Amino acid sequence: MTGQTGVLFICLGNICRSPMARMVFADLTTRRGLANRFLIDSCGTGDWHAGEGADPRTVAVARARGLDASHIARALRPGTDFVTFEYLIAMDLENRSRLLHLGAPRERVHLLRAFDPALSGRPESELVVPDPYYGGDNGFEAMYEMVNSACEGLLARVSGESGQ
Ligand code: 4NP
Repeated sequence: MTGQTGVLFICLGNICRSPMARMVFADLTTRRGLANRFLIDSCGTGDWHAGEGADPRTVAVARARGLDASHIARALRPGTDFVTFEYLIAMDLENRSRLLHLGAPRERVHLLRAFDPALSGRPESELVVPDPYYGGDNGFEAMYEMVNSACEGLLARVSGESGQ
């Protein structure tokens, strides 16, 4: 379908945070009847996990929330991704730096948690989704909550309902 708005979620490995963000955001757009308005995907700035499913801890939390946890990890493709996706949504400051270093248009690059209205006015250092990969299972619950809280605000922004 033409006229879709592209939203790409980006983390480091594309097996924990950005897949969760993609699952949550896709579910939200579906529940709102807006799914066909968006092209939604996720990727990693690294390629170590390309071709793999999501981390089992991400899968467990996603399924417990009723989300479709199917996923195939892929690496960022700067040449096409920076053109196809109007919104490049980074999970942390490192992901964002990498995007900008690779030439992403600055106006397309955002931190996911900047869309969480509860965090309005906070410094950027507090607007990150920390990497849960080397931590325990409860880090994945916390990661889901951060992602979920931000996705509503993100949808308002990308659907043109908010001037954030
Ligand atoms: P993600 O987590 O960036 O949220 O997918 C990570 C997954 C794997 C690795 C690092 C972070 N890794 O180093 O393999």
